[in-house]
Amino acid sequence: MSPTAIAPPTSPTNGAATRNGNGKLVKAKNGNGAPHLTSADPTAPTETLPVDIASWTGGARGSAEHETAVKLAHKWAYLKKGVPTGQALVLSVEGNFHGRTLGVISMSTDPESRAGFEPFLAGVGPTFVDGGAVRTIRFNKVGDLERALELHGANVAAFLVEPIQGEAGIVVPDEGYLTKVHALCKKHNVLLICDEIQTHDGVRPDVVLLGKALSSGVYPVSAVLADREVMLCIQPGEHGSTYGGNPLACAVALTALRVLTDEQLAPRAAALGALFRRALRDLRAPLVRAVRGRGLLNALVFDAAKSTRGRSAWQLCLLLKSRGVLAKPDVVRFAPPLVIAEEDRGAHYRGVSC
Ligand SMILES: Cc1ncc(COP(=O)(O)O)c(C=O)c1O
Repeated sequence: MSPTAIAPPTSPTNGAATRNGNGKLVKAKNGNGAPHLTSADPTAPTETLPVDIASWTGGARGSAEHETAVKLAHKWAYLKKGVPTGQALVLSVEGNFHGRTLGVISMSTDPESRAGFEPFLAGVGPTFVDGGAVRTIRFNKVGDLERALELHGANVAAFLVEPIQGEAGIVVPDEGYLTKVHALCKKHNVLLICDEIQTHDGVRPDVVLLGKALSSGVYPVSAVLADREVMLCIQPGEHGSTYGGNPLACAVALTALRVLTDEQLAPRAAALGALFRRALRDLRAPLVRAVRGRGLLNALVFDAAKSTRGRSAWQLCLLLKSRGVLAKPDVVRFAPPLVIAEEDRGAHYRGVSC
């Protein structure tokens, strides 16, 4: 989602933000408010924003926005799609990571995230029944989703997916995967919800979830974007949060988005990331089975079986840490800030070469 897709306050019912004498927003009432993203900065680039997009800033964590999105999908399914009340389904994919809340782990296939937290929310997740057998929708397998929608599409409200699976090990799908998913969702009148909390693809989903880099990590802020037709299925009083629409958070987010565009951080990340992957591959390190990623979000697959000294991905991460680079196993992931300097980028692969 391009930064310009962040909408100004959009709902006629959300006019609770007020300006003080300096023209700054000083108050944003949200207790029972309709969706809104408020700005404390009167110079925010609102003039370039599309008018058909509404936004909701629930607060401080990406997973909370998934809860919003599931509620939104349910409401949309009953009001617009005609799904019988109580029967809406939200499909996801195997290997997903959408956070830690109960609704989110109800969709997870990771036993570590789920064990001990049962019972889970019904009607969400990557599994579907096919001729008496339970099947799982795999990431990057369009045919799985196609089959699930052929069988259950009438009751499916939404399909939730990360453009690139981050926690699963920076799994980049085949070219065109999301475009095909988008077309399938359109065919079956299903909302495509993209978890863009870590990554983005060129496709324009029906609902977008944002967090993390929305404020460049400076201040907790997360958001849901959707077309008004979808977003305004939720009426004032039906959803809210004490700190939703937090003006400080929104000001930080808008500033971060401006920096992102002014400093051309996305093309910079694309260029630096390509150099980084090439440098890692050029090391021809015997214990590195694969290098993959997009932009500055990258991973290397460590081949512990090839180590004659029983080295693990965890040990590689400890070695990197001793050289000032924090990375996360099992698939070793690198997610430096987009403002990383050239020389710091070199430290990553010099660590790997040791
Ligand atoms: C793709 C993705 N979605 C959702 C989340 C959850 O965000 P939060 O930790 O802010 O709840 C994360 C966190 O790592 C994530 O990577």
